[in-house]
Amino acid sequence: MASAQEVNIRDGQDLYRTYCWQCHGRNAAGDGPMAEMLAIVTPDLTKLSTRHDGTFPTEAVARQIDGRAPLLAHGGEMPIFGPFLESDQNVVLPLANGKQLMAGQPLANVVAYLKSIQEE
Ligand code: HEC
Repeated sequence: MASAQEVNIRDGQDLYRTYCWQCHGRNAAGDGPMAEMLAIVTPDLTKLSTRHDGTFPTEAVARQIDGRAPLLAHGGEMPIFGPFLESDQNVVLPLANGKQLMAGQPLANVVAYLKSIQEE
């Protein structure tokens, strides 16, 4: 039996530096070179917890990235990354409400990376 996979923040950071920084910025402050070409403001990803009363919104973040957020149904500005971040290896992400979310390893890694860079 394979034991549960663990998140890998370093891999998440690599992923971020491949797919995300162009819009969200090298330090995730929302100031990447592509941000100014978008019609809406690119969010600062270091303030996700601050904007949610100090709790990192794991599920909302995962859904935004993989494209399952309801917001995206009517066409968001952010590309859908689900297909790139799928994997046979799933990781269980604990949620603030005590529930758990299953996510493919790469998605879980990038979520963990974002969680690790939250600022006050
Ligand atoms: C083409 C530019 C672009 C790229 C590339 C991009 N994003 Fe985004 N992202 C946005 C925009 C714009 C929003 C604002 C929501 C929307 O789409 O309406 C957003 C929203 C988000 C949110 C929700 C923020 C909030 O305040 O709730 C998260 C989390 C996020 N992005 C993470 C990522 C990650 C991780 C990647 C790489 C896998 C990525 N983004 C790649 C433009 C981008």
